[in-house]
Amino acid sequence: MLTLKQVKENKFVQEFITQSEKYLDAIGYTDHGRRHVNIVSDRARSLAKAIGLSEQEQEMCAIVGYCHDMGNFMGRTKHHYWSSMLFMQTFLRETDDPQELATIMQAIASHDKDELKIVSAVSAILILADKSDVHRTRVKTKKTIDRNSDIHDRVNYAAIKNDFSVNKLKKDIKLKIQIDTKLTNAMDYFEIFIARMTFCKLAADYLGYNFTLIINNFKLS
Ligand SMILES: [Fe+2]
Ligand SMILES: [Fe+2]
Repeated sequence: MLTLKQVKENKFVQEFITQSEKYLDAIGYTDHGRRHVNIVSDRARSLAKAIGLSEQEQEMCAIVGYCHDMGNFMGRTKHHYWSSMLFMQTFLRETDDPQELATIMQAIASHDKDELKIVSAVSAILILADKSDVHRTRVKTKKTIDRNSDIHDRVNYAAIKNDFSVNKLKKDIKLKIQIDTKLTNAMDYFEIFIARMTFCKLAADYLGYNFTLIINNFKLS
């Protein structure tokens, strides 16, 4: 069984993430580097544990969270494929479990909007953990954020609190975001994140859960 520890110790994985950080900095994107992948990996593992997936599935969730964006340095548009292929090439000889490898590859390859397709609990969890990472600390621009800034920067910067929780008894997954309305308004948020939230809902449905989004005490479910 592959482990997150083994994946993190792989020098190629570390280099792919470093190169992706450089590439996305150069094109002015929000963080998809170590801050983001560690958050997604931790959140994916906790979610898998909270809903009662097996030890191996929990580990796979942590791994896909860590590796899903490592192919960005080869081009943003198809980064989900690049990340998946890089994973396969790096770990093909380190596992003798074809199903484990294929499940990880499929989850990574389908985490982005064009190809998004949920066919396993691991892929559903990656989508929830990835799409829910909306927070001020994702913004990398050195410029001051104001109402004229890029909408992605503005909305992320305005998100001052992000709480993600699971209630197994009530079968509910909840994302609570606090937005500083001096920097953005709810309409900006919906413009950017409506698609993300639709994917979270699809992923929660797959797991047999409701998805509830609460923005500044405004509840959507
Ligand atoms: Fe991605
Ligand atoms: Fe991501």
